[in-house]
Amino acid sequence: MTTTTGQNVQFLADYRPYPFVLSSTRMTFRLSATDTRVLTALSLAPRHPDRPEDLVLDGGKGVRLLSLTIDGAVPDPAHVRREGETLTITAAALPRHSFLLETEVGIDPSANTAFEGLYISNEMFCTQCEAEGFRHITFYPDRPDVMATFHVTIDSDLPVLLSNGNPVGQSQGRAEWHDPWPKPSYLFALVAGDLVAVSDSFTTRSGRKVALNVWVRPGDQDRAGFAMESLIKSMKWDEDVYGREYDLDVFNIVAVDDFNMGAMENKGLNIFNSKLVLASPETATDGDYERIEAVIAHEYFHNWTGNRITCRDWFQLCLKEGLTVFRDQQFTSDMRSAAVKRIEDVQALRARQFREDQGPLAHPPRPDRYEEINNFYTATVYEKGAEVIGMLKRLVGDDGYRRALDLYFNRHDGDAATIEDWLKVFEDATGRDLTQFKRWYTDAGTPRLTMAEDWQPAEAGGTLALTFTQETPATPRQTEKLPRVIPIALGLIGPNGDEVAPTQVLEMTEAKQSFTFDGLGARPVVSVLRGFSAPVILSRRLDDATRAFLLAHDTDPFARWEAGRDLALSALIAASQGQPVTRDYVEAIGRLIADDSADPAFRALCLSLPGEEEIATRLFNQGITPDPDAIHAARESLARDLAETHLDLLSRLYTAMTVEGPYRPDAADAARRSLRNAVLALLTRIDGGERAEVLFGVTGNMTERIAALTALLRRGRGQAELTALHDLFADNRLVMDKWFSVQPMAAPPAQAAQVARSLSQRKDFDWKNPNRFRALIGGLSANHAGFHAADGSGYDFVADWLMRMDPVNPQIAARMSTAFETWTRYDAGRRAKALAALERIAAVQGLSKNTREMVSRMIA
Ligand code: ARG
Ligand code: ZN
Repeated sequence: MTTTTGQNVQFLADYRPYPFVLSSTRMTFRLSATDTRVLTALSLAPRHPDRPEDLVLDGGKGVRLLSLTIDGAVPDPAHVRREGETLTITAAALPRHSFLLETEVGIDPSANTAFEGLYISNEMFCTQCEAEGFRHITFYPDRPDVMATFHVTIDSDLPVLLSNGNPVGQSQGRAEWHDPWPKPSYLFALVAGDLVAVSDSFTTRSGRKVALNVWVRPGDQDRAGFAMESLIKSMKWDEDVYGREYDLDVFNIVAVDDFNMGAMENKGLNIFNSKLVLASPETATDGDYERIEAVIAHEYFHNWTGNRITCRDWFQLCLKEGLTVFRDQQFTSDMRSAAVKRIEDVQALRARQFREDQGPLAHPPRPDRYEEINNFYTATVYEKGAEVIGMLKRLVGDDGYRRALDLYFNRHDGDAATIEDWLKVFEDATGRDLTQFKRWYTDAGTPRLTMAEDWQPAEAGGTLALTFTQETPATPRQTEKLPRVIPIALGLIGPNGDEVAPTQVLEMTEAKQSFTFDGLGARPVVSVLRGFSAPVILSRRLDDATRAFLLAHDTDPFARWEAGRDLALSALIAASQGQPVTRDYVEAIGRLIADDSADPAFRALCLSLPGEEEIATRLFNQGITPDPDAIHAARESLARDLAETHLDLLSRLYTAMTVEGPYRPDAADAARRSLRNAVLALLTRIDGGERAEVLFGVTGNMTERIAALTALLRRGRGQAELTALHDLFADNRLVMDKWFSVQPMAAPPAQAAQVARSLSQRKDFDWKNPNRFRALIGGLSANHAGFHAADGSGYDFVADWLMRMDPVNPQIAARMSTAFETWTRYDAGRRAKALAALERIAAVQGLSKNTREMVSRMIA
């Protein structure tokens, strides 16, 4: 079996500026479901008139060229060449000075199932152009460093016609929009449909009054209010914290049901997956509300970090994404609990980015090669990109960060910039040399950091020497790794539990480095990597009693949680290996959850056991082949042990955490529900499902309904509740997505693939809808022991569906193929079955470039 790859590789090193300057783009859309006409007029000029070059425009296979003129004249057809996905006009046919290139093309939005370019979702026209979707709309230099003002006319009988910028004309059947801010094509958007708006306004601090609209389908207005509140909070926050104001007269958000990703920051016209806009207490969970707030903020923040300053090329994607994730994380920390947010972010980083970084798909935050850019919208580019900025901020301090960001906005407003530009503003603003730090952007892989302690007691005071070593394992195409700059935040805690040294940041730059603390009265316990100050895998020798001590006394909430996590993992690993388990975790957790002075959300995080995949990863990192069934059994037994040992305490907490009054999605109420639901998950293991059944029956909110249902399904119960949920919400797509995902996810592992298979045969498994597909296929992939079932049933089921999805929507198929990215960690039997499934995909004739690249990298 050979998989061919490499024909279409793009290299960062090959960058060269576009040989033409594009100053303005005027477009007219004559919308029709099957034959939309797009008229485009580009004002172009050769960049180097003395060195004539061919004009190469991008244009997908579905774009039919109907006419083309240069300054109003039809060029000799011999000078116009269509090959693959480009249209070339030879230099001989082009003027040496500025000229107007006009085209008319025909496209078929109704046939667009890939949801890239102009497509139809629920009778509504909408677009998705990042990264390279605009070329499916018209012939264009579809690259982020070509920026132009846009003037867009939309001809259609649909009532609402939207594009970027400000509205400049509305009449029956026609709307005109002008966007004065030069932008690349990936930020273009158009929406047309029968929509209604929830409207409000925001006055910027310099006095610009901005009309705000959240557009939804009629009937959904009552679920759009939270999105609007989140937008207003985001606009205010970006002024207060970054000094950034909005720059148009209107800001529109549109919710669409068919959307490949979460949302898109098109200038002045953000388009969202409807699951990240629509929320009501009955249909959305606390987690959904928190995500909506964060993603609304994320897309809004892109207006400065992404739109006003964009990327020179797609290798620089983390320039906008890492920074914008970092900003949305800061925002959520300010709106909610900073401690809880940090712990959640680290959990997600480890689950997704560390997983990626340790497998065949590992790549640096700034890759230097790709085949299909859509495969690089990854946890590494986004979340690790944000972590790298968190490290920079820690190294230069809050003031340095602020000065660097001010300089970034001043120096690069209007630019298509690079990671080099970004690092330079930090160097110029703070005087720091970031040559070594840059490796975080260019090198893949998660460093392993070890800490060894040497304690020397002395009469006058003891000395503690900490020796750190760092090592980064090889990743694809990067075998030699040089040491990185690692900010290590630490504090020291005395034997009585008092902090003897507050948090300080050690800067590690060598492969091996020691730091000494002296004048210590007694040997302290080191609280290291506070706040998860660097995205590394730390190992240190620590016994369970000391971990329990840190869980009780650490002043840093992340480090405190981490101590509990390590304690749980040590118990789970011992149990999964059939070794004796200490009581430290079960006892320490009892003390912690009884502490009513601690934030309920923090207690909930400590009480939730590490997931099965997390346990598998820990084992793998210790050189042990994970056994999914043994891991599942060990986790179940520890959960049961917790429930039995602390039955009284948990029962009391379950009652005490009841939230009175109407549902509110705020952090305080959500925290109480999260603790109560974590308690419920444990108690359901020993109460026969009684509490969960009662809760499901009486609650009116989705947070508790789903928690109760999940707890029941895990015990092989919950059939009546599933039916009830279906009957209540059969017409609500977003709730039905939850219904489809919770079943394979929470099914007992031996049944998971069968549960997924029978769900996939239902008429309402509308698999071409990305949310529905992700719900079911992703639901099974999230069931660790179910997906990795020894008989290969999970692998086969997912592979079958990836092959079916690939010709319809390659982006979704490629993304979901990451279910397989850890396949080499498992035993020979599972590896053989996973490899067979991957090879079956690779053998498909006409497999998309997207999925082919992913599968080739995973098999390599
Ligand atoms: N820029 C968008 C965001 O992060 C993501 C769009 C990605 N789209 C894609 N087809 N890869 O907010
Ligand atoms: Zn983004």
